[in-house]
Amino acid sequence: MAGLNKFFLLFFFLSFSVTIPTLHANIYEFDEYWQQRAKHARQAALNAYDPDPLGVIGNLTSHVDETMIGTNNTRRNLKATNGPCEATNPIDRCWRCDPNWANNRKKLADCVQGFGRKTIGGKNGPFYVVNDSSDNDMVNPKPGTLRHAVIQKGPLWIIFARSMTIRLNQELIMTSDKTIDGRGAIVQIATGAGITIQFINNVIIHGIKIHDIVQGSGGNIRDAVDHVGFRTRSDGDGISIFGSSNVWIDHVSMSKCYDGLVDAIMGSTGITISNCHFTHHNEVMLFGASDSFSSDKVMQITVAFNHFGQGLVQRMPRCRWGFFHVVNNDYTHWLMYAIGGSQNPTIISEGNRFIAPPNPNAKEVTKRDYAEESVWKNWQWRSRKDVLMNGAFFKQSGPELNGRGPFSRLDMISSKPGEMVGRLTRYSGALNCRAGVPC
Ligand SMILES: *[C@@H]1O[C@H](CO)[C@@H](O)[C@H](O)[C@H]1NC(C)=O
Ligand SMILES: *[C@@H]1O[C@H](CO)[C@@H](O)[C@H](O)[C@H]1NC(C)=O
Ligand SMILES: *[C@@H]1O[C@H](CO)[C@@H](O)[C@H](O)[C@H]1NC(C)=O
Repeated sequence: MAGLNKFFLLFFFLSFSVTIPTLHANIYEFDEYWQQRAKHARQAALNAYDPDPLGVIGNLTSHVDETMIGTNNTRRNLKATNGPCEATNPIDRCWRCDPNWANNRKKLADCVQGFGRKTIGGKNGPFYVVNDSSDNDMVNPKPGTLRHAVIQKGPLWIIFARSMTIRLNQELIMTSDKTIDGRGAIVQIATGAGITIQFINNVIIHGIKIHDIVQGSGGNIRDAVDHVGFRTRSDGDGISIFGSSNVWIDHVSMSKCYDGLVDAIMGSTGITISNCHFTHHNEVMLFGASDSFSSDKVMQITVAFNHFGQGLVQRMPRCRWGFFHVVNNDYTHWLMYAIGGSQNPTIISEGNRFIAPPNPNAKEVTKRDYAEESVWKNWQWRSRKDVLMNGAFFKQSGPELNGRGPFSRLDMISSKPGEMVGRLTRYSGALNCRAGVPC
């Protein structure tokens, strides 16, 4: 079965390689360099794709259930910063309460769960200390800047000498095997262009704030130490994941970007988005941009322990084609809907808390686009252990999960995750970590 799946995927990718130059890649000339980069990224995505997605799901949720035993606090507004360190979910528990975290930063790379679980970022490379917040030279970025760090060859663990606000002059085009680790400083990417993860593999972004992102005008931008390419206007996403795999976004605070906060498109897969705090934005997360791009069937994304907070409108996320596990998130605000999609995505919603807005026409968590009920009734959108408040309702469809593989293990656990979500997500967003004390 696994072999067969990969065989079909290869076909998707072959068609993909023909169509790619015509899609909005913001790459003006799809030259030899970008063709190679796209080819390697496709291979990495194939390797990241899991033929048994439910297996991964079972693992994450059983861990969650274990860590929640003995906790039943559902209140959000208890930012207990003075008390002892509390790691309230299994990802955080892996690293957060170590007072020696600053000398042990790469431990973080062992902590990701869900579909992005193979991500190690720059674990096997040296540290790079960003000591310069400027971003003035797109073609020959100055040593010490974030742009200079992210284009280096090989794995790199990027940290910051001090707190800084970086206004990106153009989109920040990352290369493979990088970690951006904002712990120990308050690092903001703001009022300029956003982060682009395009045709690469293995990236961690942790502990930064990204807000007020606008479109970049385009132009010549160095995208590797040995390549400069001409880019068209960037979309204005906070983080744009494009044809890339093994990406983990954790403890990032995001708001007010021109386009999406996080978009994952063009055959991206192996992604976990966890512990983030999202506020003040309309179209929050887009997973798959096209109803005709069936290569997005490889998409496998975990959205866990995030707080979808004030001023959000829709798309948390909005999905196409792939497989999405949305687990233990706190949805405290939306104006239109929370989770939506088209083109037969599989959406497993587990242990989330959905608090509907007062508007009687916006109580439905879900929204299905461009299909009659006779069609979408077959899409597998299931809700398990979700807590639905203030009139919220989740319209389920497709096959039930009962009795399927790892879920039978889960059935034996009697806790009610959705009620624990306020606690599980209490420390979402960028943390204020200081060396020598737990984060
Ligand atoms: C499930 O979790 C266990 C324990 O952390 C780990 O050893 C195993 O590799 C995980 N399996 C998958 C499919 O991630
Ligand atoms: C759970 O809630 C009950 C009732 O509010 C309380 O008595 C108990 O101490 C709580 N348990 C924990 C571990 O917080
Ligand atoms: C900043 O970092 C760069 C690159 O590591 C280094 O060359 C430079 O000397 C550093 N500058 C200061 C002021 O520390």
